[in-house]
Amino acid sequence: MEISSKLLNLFNEAEKIAKKAYAPYSNFRVGSAILLDDGTVITGVNVENRSYGLTNCAERTAIYKAVSEGKKNFVAIAIATPDADYPVSPCGACRQVISEFMKQETEIVFGSNKDNLVLTKLSEVYPFDALHELKK
Ligand code: THU
Repeated sequence: MEISSKLLNLFNEAEKIAKKAYAPYSNFRVGSAILLDDGTVITGVNVENRSYGLTNCAERTAIYKAVSEGKKNFVAIAIATPDADYPVSPCGACRQVISEFMKQETEIVFGSNKDNLVLTKLSEVYPFDALHELKK
């Protein structure tokens, strides 16, 4: 599938912000960029902790930043993993959090660099999404 310039630009933002990752334990930097329906881009990085389980992934950092600024109309999310030699997909916890705020048709692009991208949708990485009925 040919990737749109919109998604390529979003991936570029994720790649740039990955340099700001706080990853002294894994040395595995991750950057994420979310596109809002008004064209705004919100970014995030992984923030690790010496108590390993407290680590926050880049995708969740970006989502929590956006939501805490009152922004929830997400249309796409990009994830850049420059320290990998293959495209690293969002972890299970992040898929659950993405599904809280994004529609099943939301585009997801991830990769280690711009020549090594996977373009997909939330419905593909997180099918059989459950518990929507609890949302009031
Ligand atoms: N990580 C992310 O930020 N996003 C993912 O989708 C995969 C994993 C981070 C968590 C940890 O800081 C490092 O990558 C290694 O797992």
